Amino acid sequence: MTPQERIAHLRDEVNFHLYRYHVLDSPVISDAEYDALYHELVALEQANPTLITPDSPTQRAGAEPLGAFAKVTHPAPILSLSNAFNADDLFAWRQRIGRYLPDPNMDLDYVAEPKLDGLTVVLTYENGRFTQGATRGNGEVGEDITQNLRTITAVPQRIPVDPQSELPVPPYLVVRGEVFFPLDKFEQFNERQRVAEKQVYMNPRNAASGSLRQLDPKITAGRPLTLFCYDLVAWEGVAVPDKQWDRLDYLRQLGFPVSSDSQYCDNIEAVAVLYEGWKEKRNQINYEVDGVVVKINDRPMADSLGFVGKDPRGAVAMKFPAQEKTTRLLDVAVNVGRTGILAPAAVLEPVEIGGVVVRNATLHNYDEIARKDIRIGDMVIVKRAGDVIPYIVGPVAERRDGSERVVEPPTHCPVCGEPALRVPGEVAIYCDNPSCPEQLVRRVEYFVSRGAMDIDGFGSKTGALLAEVGLVKDLADIYYLNREELLALEGFKDKKVDNLLSGLEASKKQSPVRFLTALGIRFVGSVVAGLLINEFDSIDALAAADQARLEEVEGIGPGTAVSVTTWFADERHRALLEKFRAAGLPFVAEKPAVGAGSRQLDGLTFVITGTLPTLSRDEAKALIETHGGKVTGSVSKNTHFLLAGEKAGSKLSKAESLGVAIIDEARLNEMIA
Ligand code: IVH
Repeated sequence: MTPQERIAHLRDEVNFHLYRYHVLDSPVISDAEYDALYHELVALEQANPTLITPDSPTQRAGAEPLGAFAKVTHPAPILSLSNAFNADDLFAWRQRIGRYLPDPNMDLDYVAEPKLDGLTVVLTYENGRFTQGATRGNGEVGEDITQNLRTITAVPQRIPVDPQSELPVPPYLVVRGEVFFPLDKFEQFNERQRVAEKQVYMNPRNAASGSLRQLDPKITAGRPLTLFCYDLVAWEGVAVPDKQWDRLDYLRQLGFPVSSDSQYCDNIEAVAVLYEGWKEKRNQINYEVDGVVVKINDRPMADSLGFVGKDPRGAVAMKFPAQEKTTRLLDVAVNVGRTGILAPAAVLEPVEIGGVVVRNATLHNYDEIARKDIRIGDMVIVKRAGDVIPYIVGPVAERRDGSERVVEPPTHCPVCGEPALRVPGEVAIYCDNPSCPEQLVRRVEYFVSRGAMDIDGFGSKTGALLAEVGLVKDLADIYYLNREELLALEGFKDKKVDNLLSGLEASKKQSPVRFLTALGIRFVGSVVAGLLINEFDSIDALAAADQARLEEVEGIGPGTAVSVTTWFADERHRALLEKFRAAGLPFVAEKPAVGAGSRQLDGLTFVITGTLPTLSRDEAKALIETHGGKVTGSVSKNTHFLLAGEKAGSKLSKAESLGVAIIDEARLNEMIA
């Protein structure tokens, strides 16, 4: 098999498994098997750079930034929909279209689909390859966002996605779908943006649209966007099914993601019943829907009914009642975060929205409050979508009576009273007092949480109480609690204290990756912590690294590097670490067992590249480590040897340019013999 053939085969395989994983949610191989395929593809492409094409799954990380989006004319108008708001409107629609049907009272069947509140995209496939993706624009002309769409895993790069599929490859097919931001990812994402002082989005729809319309595809690649397809816009050289229900299935068989919440309805009454059910269901799904799209199942018949303006007669959008209510903003409270950020939070006159009583809402930051001119005492419009924290759309300025007060950003921390700090050019306002009791409570909360040290029996209220009574004055104090002190606290019985102490004891066996994560260093979440421990093996080696050394680590940028070095340079943090060390927390990563008397590679750092004649990468790594050596991911001036096999790529040239010694598998065997 030529490299070209192998690459083509690997791309099909990788695309197929991405689809099984992300679209069907039912992988057929293990993560490790997938990684092996993917890495083989990367290695082959690195060795044959001329064979890299933009539709390769390795290019999902995003191509080079653009200066502007090009304009794209759609092959057919990308239409909109007329609205209905209740069953009566729906029946009236059915009545109206009767005039255009062969028989006004004929039986019709329908498909009811969730009306996704995202961004319409138009995807073009030529001979089965994804060649262009565009926004809706004005319905005639949209913007070319192909590069961004290539970064979304759910967008097939080739159809049919399944290499085993017997469906013919369509010579030309244009598909319409909706790109959206899954609700469960939205809150987390915004939080990360807030911490990084990047743009915070109002709602999932804005986040989807903001993410898709980035000129730099690498930004889009970092966002958890996904897609559902629901229509065929144009096709040539293939027969497509006549029924909408079958078209959805055709799309599905080609490998497009299609919502499984769409339903077939035998008659219009069934549609009305289903709509009622959706009002409840909309709050239980992981994407925002603002209605149900009702389509006549017989598409040629539907299309023959023509349009009113931009709205086809053959379909109608049954909108849901808005999840919006007006209520009074009683106050703006100030929340102190783990990093000291002073965040505004709306205190509302309780109001029921979509079956839930809402008392609080996010206000993002003080610039946002000023921009929207939200005042205390205002009547404000509050919106709730899915499980996302409700937010304030804006004030109803017409209902002011003059008693409203402008919201002043805090000048002092509301808890410790220290002056608040605003870094010029940043939106966030901080409490700069590292011993602020509220920050400590937040830090403890984070330290013990599931994503960090995962300490059983340590609830979020426990941390607040311990800090309040003075038993915990810094993070490490939680490991110095004793039975008697705890038993003296109200509500702390034997069993509770035992659970807490054994949870703390057990947590000392957690990995240094979790420990590093739990320290709550800015920009160091679990992924970054993993990279750092993998590279440095211990917290002490990490603490000793300077900024340049940190930036050499693959995946670590300058912002993170500065944050890490600043944290470790702080004497208070050094003292804290010693206290943790004395308590027995994990500072060093466990290494594979070292073979007897085999320290020949002690102190030597290796990087592995290419395909070795007999050893797999993992085997080579284990071999080096067994003999006391270290394996890192990227070549730097600290690398002693590059172990290179066949088809070595950029690491080889980098090693050559840095003068790093290059060895092969045979030489490695001699070194350890
Ligand atoms: S069909 C002629 N189906 O809703 C076909 N639209 O208000 C017209 N939308 O612009 C569109 N989910 O962006 C259709 N399952 C779905 C939809 C859907 C969301 C959006 C679409 C459209 C808007 C119309």
